[in-house]
Amino acid sequence: MGLLPKLAATNTSIGLDIGSSAIKLVQLQGGKNGVSLYKAGSAPTPSDAVKGGVIVDPLAVAKTIGSLLEALQVDGTMVSAGIAGPTLVVREVPLPVMSDRQLRKSIQWEARNYISFPVEDSVVEFQVLDRPAASSGGQMRVMLVAAPRDMVDSQVEAIELAGLEPVAVEIQPFASLRGILAANGHAQDEGDTTAVLGIGAAYTDITIMKDGEFILTRTIPIAGDAFAEAIKSALDVDTAEANQLKETAMQVVSSEEERAALDPAAQQASRAIEPLLDELIREVRRSLAYHDYQQQSPDAGAGDLGVNRILLSGGSAKLPRIAEYFQAQLGVPVELVSVFDTGGIRASGVNQDYLKSHAPILLVGTGLALRGLLRKQRRRGGEEQQ
Ligand SMILES: Nc1ncnc2c1ncn2[C@@H]1O[C@H](COP(=O)(O)OP(=O)(O)OP(=O)(O)O)[C@@H](O)[C@H]1O
Ligand SMILES: [Mg+2]
Repeated sequence: MGLLPKLAATNTSIGLDIGSSAIKLVQLQGGKNGVSLYKAGSAPTPSDAVKGGVIVDPLAVAKTIGSLLEALQVDGTMVSAGIAGPTLVVREVPLPVMSDRQLRKSIQWEARNYISFPVEDSVVEFQVLDRPAASSGGQMRVMLVAAPRDMVDSQVEAIELAGLEPVAVEIQPFASLRGILAANGHAQDEGDTTAVLGIGAAYTDITIMKDGEFILTRTIPIAGDAFAEAIKSALDVDTAEANQLKETAMQVVSSEEERAALDPAAQQASRAIEPLLDELIREVRRSLAYHDYQQQSPDAGAGDLGVNRILLSGGSAKLPRIAEYFQAQLGVPVELVSVFDTGGIRASGVNQDYLKSHAPILLVGTGLALRGLLRKQRRRGGEEQQ
């Protein structure tokens, strides 16, 4: 027993979010007084090293991870990583009632009906959400998760090449939700429905959570890269200049008066990305409508779209005034996610300026690191009981 508090005080875990544009690292520390942020940092992903959610150049990515470890002086090795992208399948499926053992044997076969890539080249997992008595004649509800095997393997390879130890690879939407719940420091209120948008470079994920439980996730192929492309053609500049303009000078506007206050290039850029923002909003509306349609009993106070709020995360959520634009269009409260200033995760030891400007990109990494901490805690709990 005497050893346990000491162990808990040095309990750390790393989350690595390897995106197509940036690699984000979050190290959390768990102890008697809760969870605190220990290290956080990010670095640009080597160009073309991540495509369609797969790390196609694991060596280049490992080198960047190595530099990040050195710059942040990270001393842990246990890493949880996350996968995302349009080829991921995460869906609830109805199946005849069977035991876990039978399900494990037949899940690959069942998965064929839902995935677009060869099942032999995929990793398939499941979780039983509801298993009625076999005699009831009802069906089981099962959450099916399937990913192309090279997507998972390439994460493991890059992490190992960086000299680290991968302990878990999970889907990024699950990590985001875990991060939000931990940041709040309490469970969601009953009947509360939240949609989380992760607006990255290649993709935007929309994930819906109700009563603290995962409901659905979808990938929309409109995010920072598409914004840069639009700016590039409208202003006749190269990709680097388009990104530079997007990240430093532009703003999303809600009226022509607001636009007129920007400098000429930013005016053109804001005009160029508007159709993409509107298309993204249409897709978000579509996902929310699908979720609302599936609900048998609409939630009190959840509004026309069936959600109480929308939280924005990911690098492209840093576009100034994007939350206001979404809120005006969707008529639901929209805000940037705050991971470290809501009380659930303390962050006193980390540069506050860095955190202020980078909080939206650290959500997935935080959720991944939390998974590692919980895993360690469960293990220790098990050892204690033995
Ligand atoms: N201040 C800013 N304003 C607007 N966009 C920004 C800003 N900072 C970063 N971005 C954009 O955010 C994107 C990177 O965000 P993020 O790190 O979440 O993406 P990623 O995880 O690498 O991408 P993906 O998950 O889609 O592969 C890039 O498109 C980048 O240009
Ligand atoms: Mg990402």
